[in-house]
Amino acid sequence: MVFQATTSAPVNIACIKYWGKRDTTLILPTNSSLSVTLDQDHLRSTTSSRADPSFTSDRLWLNAKEEIIKDGGRMSTCIKEMKRLRKQLVEDTDPNAPKLSTYHVHIASYNNFPTAAGLASSASGFAALVSSLAALYSLPCPPTTLSLIARQGSGSACRSLQGGFVAWEQGSQPTGLDSHAVQIAPESHWPTLHALICVVNDAKKGTSSTSGMQRTVETSPLLQHRIKNVVPQRMVDISKAILDKDFDAFARITMADSNQFHAVALDTTPPIFYMNDVSRAIIAVVEEYNRVWVEKTGKVKAAYTFDAGPNAVIYTEGENVKEIIEIIVRFFPQQETFKDPFGLFANDGGLKEGGK
Ligand code: ADP
Ligand code: DP6
Ligand code: CO
Repeated sequence: MVFQATTSAPVNIACIKYWGKRDTTLILPTNSSLSVTLDQDHLRSTTSSRADPSFTSDRLWLNAKEEIIKDGGRMSTCIKEMKRLRKQLVEDTDPNAPKLSTYHVHIASYNNFPTAAGLASSASGFAALVSSLAALYSLPCPPTTLSLIARQGSGSACRSLQGGFVAWEQGSQPTGLDSHAVQIAPESHWPTLHALICVVNDAKKGTSSTSGMQRTVETSPLLQHRIKNVVPQRMVDISKAILDKDFDAFARITMADSNQFHAVALDTTPPIFYMNDVSRAIIAVVEEYNRVWVEKTGKVKAAYTFDAGPNAVIYTEGENVKEIIEIIVRFFPQQETFKDPFGLFANDGGLKEGGK
């Protein structure tokens, strides 16, 4: 018998950012957060896991390179928790079920986008890991239960096990049992909402999210203001904006929260700079684009947001996608790698007359 399963999970991009832990072992956050799970295949982790009695240890390969699973580390916690659920929910109730919880596992994962570059690879990575083990172990678990385990791999991962608009409720119990993901609305609720991913730099970032946010918790006075006085109301307001499909409100809150997250990073000692000059130029272009539309209609049409890295995500409604890509590519030409999904460009790199 071969016991093996392969699943994949997409990244999610936060509109209200998680940045800070109150418990670094269980990964309990200092504030609730909310994200959009991307539904296309462009940014995904695909993970295969296999259990076999001949394996002598748990092992993991990430993008074809072996990563050491540290005892007591996050990867090891997730694997241990999944084995515990297998025993409790399957083996203890069905005497005929193979005792997979006693076998070691080999896990291979592949990201089809830059790893550790601020595009949420830890989110899709740990979500794919947990869902692959859940499939291997035939666990009859709802996403909420799995989110409790993915959270202990990487906080943002708990939001990638569901599609659409997902909140991570910070919870208040010291056990962390109430700190999990909740779907605010499925993807089908707002199918016209698009996310444009602008890769500014695909290199591994200098300060990991984990160490950066811990330094912020220890040193930033602004973080205390953010978690007490700002985020709770924003969670209420953005949830309403999503349920109402109110793009203007959704966009304004998203941009404000990205900017405050980067302000909090700057307020850290020593300061952390995730955005670079190109990131800031993207902000300027989107702000100017919005200014023109606010003058005409009173409403913004695009929202930028940056995670812990220089790469931009621009949320907008489908009807504006072509126009925004045109503007971004005109300001930031990238002919070599740009795939031109709308057929906007001629072979010489110039814009086609009336490109479709
Ligand atoms: P990012 O902004 O990409 O989420 P982080 O600093 O939060 O960057 O996390 C990057 C780390 O997440 C990687 O160094 C690796 O340990 C882990 N990770 C990324 N992808 C995967 C994956 N597919 N499977 C398991 N772990 C992963
Ligand atoms: C800026 O979830 O990567 O992307 O829990 O330490 O693994 P760890 O951190 P991680 O932090 C994500 C930070 C963020 C905002 C967000 O996704 O909410
Ligand atoms: Co991450």
